[in-house]
This record gives sequence, structure tokens and C-alpha cells, in this order.
Amino acid sequence: MSVTPDEFRSVLGRFPSGVTVVTTKAGDGSDQGMTVSAFSSVSLDPPLVLICIEKTASAYNALTAAPGFVVNILSVSQEQIARRFSIVDIDRFEGVGYSRSPNGLAVLDDVLGVIECATFAMHDAGDHTIIVGEVEAARAQNGTPLLYYRGGYAQLEH
Ligand SMILES: Cc1cc2nc3c(=O)[nH]c(=O)nc-3n(C[C@H](O)[C@H](O)[C@H](O)COP(=O)(O)O)c2cc1C
Repeated sequence: MSVTPDEFRSVLGRFPSGVTVVTTKAGDGSDQGMTVSAFSSVSLDPPLVLICIEKTASAYNALTAAPGFVVNILSVSQEQIARRFSIVDIDRFEGVGYSRSPNGLAVLDDVLGVIECATFAMHDAGDHTIIVGEVEAARAQNGTPLLYYRGGYAQLEH
């Protein structure tokens, strides 16, 4: 049994996700970041998470070479940040507020969650690479998450 790209997108788009911006640094010290919805928790002991990164992504080389990365979980008020960090060929960090993790990686202001990771493993997976990170530090703040569903941004209804 096979599936067409349209069928794949249509069915997988019915699985809602949160939205994150993953940040790291390139070898030249420049900040790199991209919007990532393919994020999941993996293990509690040790604490592991994963992200799936397309091999053609501009941040791919940095993410697969760096010793670690930060997952910033976006709130519903940060849709513009999600859009900005998926625009091609701009300085995605310009005009965006952020501080630095102990490892010097960008931690975006006002996010719902921050997960600082050391790269634990990488697995080839078709046109993506699964990057598993061991969680070195994590913190949360209250708020409402930004969601991605059927190709568009969405929010929780209570
Ligand atoms: C809501 C949303 C979720 C995304 N999730 C992922 C993802 O999980 N993995 C990935 O490799 N790219 C993902 N992307 C695409 C990247 O953020 C980015 O748009 C893409 O890498 C193109 O930019 P680039 O050519 O500069 O890398 C997502 C984009 C959006 C808007």
C-alpha cells in the first residue's frame, strides 16, 4: 500500500500539534532558528525529546553539527514569530526579543516553555533527520499554546 503526498499531508494535517522555534548556533557563531512542529517528548529517564528537521532546511547543517539546541514552545500570541522563523532568506532574529541560555543559545522572550538540549542521537529518516536531544534544563510559564492544524495556525477552544 502506498500513499500520495496529498493524501499524506491531508491525513497527517488532521493531527494537531503545538508550534516551536528551535534555535542553535552555526560554526561561525551566528544564531540559527526555524519554526518546527515536528517535536515530541521521547523518554523521561533519561529525559529525551526529538525534532525532525528537513535536510534542505537552512538551519540543517548548524543543527546537525552543533552540540545542542533550544526548543522554544510558542504561545498563541506568537503566531508572527512562527511565521517569521519560517521565512526564507531574512535575518529571523531581527526585531525579536531573546536572551541567552548558559550555552549561549537564543531563548525567545515570552514563550510558554524553554527546553535546553544536548544532542543525544541522530537518525536518518527519509528527507528529514530525527535529532534526539537530552534535556539539560526546562522551564515553563502559564499561557495558551499556539497550534498548527490542517496547514494553518489555530488555538484551543474551551
Ligand atoms: C508551522 C510550521 C511548522 C514547521 N515545522 C517544521 C518541522 O517540523 N521540520 C522542518 O524541517 N521544517 C518545518 N517547517 C519549515 C521551516 O520552519 C522553514 O520554513 C523551512 O526550513 C524553510 O526555510 P529555510 O529554507 O530557510 O530552511 C515548519 C514551518 C511552519 C510554518
